[in-house]
Amino acid sequence: TAPAAVIVGIDGPSGTGKSSTSKAVAAKLGLRYLDTGAQYRAITWWMLSNGIDVEDAAAVAAAAGKPEIVSGTDPSAPTITVDGADAAGPIRTQEVTSAVSAVSAVPEVRTRLTELQRSIAAAAPQGIVVEGRDIGTTVLPDADLKIFLTASPEARAARRNGELKGKNAQDPADLAATRAALVKRDAADSGRKTSPLAKAADAVEVDTTDLTLEQVVECVVTLVESRRSAA
Ligand code: DC
Repeated sequence: TAPAAVIVGIDGPSGTGKSSTSKAVAAKLGLRYLDTGAQYRAITWWMLSNGIDVEDAAAVAAAAGKPEIVSGTDPSAPTITVDGADAAGPIRTQEVTSAVSAVSAVPEVRTRLTELQRSIAAAAPQGIVVEGRDIGTTVLPDADLKIFLTASPEARAARRNGELKGKNAQDPADLAATRAALVKRDAADSGRKTSPLAKAADAVEVDTTDLTLEQVVECVVTLVESRRSAA
């Protein structure tokens, strides 16, 4: 008989290596992969493109059901479209990054995306790795394994700068600006009323500050395998 589907939730602030870790774990274990941050970014991009003031929570709430968001869950080639248009590039712009915390604090946006995320997870035959901020606490409270990734603000800023094209990861002024932006976004994500960024009581916390990506992946894969054999 086929093993039961395994559901893994990976939460934590930005720059802790959530996406790289989640994709690699999913690929190694033959699971699907869902980036819920990309969905919040996609809905934010749609709001900005449609002239909706992202600071106007009532306007954002009223429009929350309009865009059709589709996530492709192959860990080696994840995709995201909004109303059929490829959104992978536009959702990574500075404009979207600056607006996403305001949009993702709106309860109607969260309800809509939480439902979408649950339906995607339920449809994954072998199971799925879902990364975000509230997966262990709200979206998939019955996940087989919950991971909460952390890292020092310095390490996170250095990693984020390394990912941004045209940025010098070593430039002190650049690093300080990236660090300030990260800390600000995390404070907004942790401080909002509706399902804030938080570690679930039963999550395993992994501090990635001094670990390589390979080490973090190995650690999570080992945890998944031990849960599987215990089940
Ligand atoms: O993981 P990311 O940086 O791409 O996420 C973008 C934003 O989306 C993040 O600042 C907060 C929001 N988000 C959320 O509120 N809940 C999630 N499950 C995932 C992301």
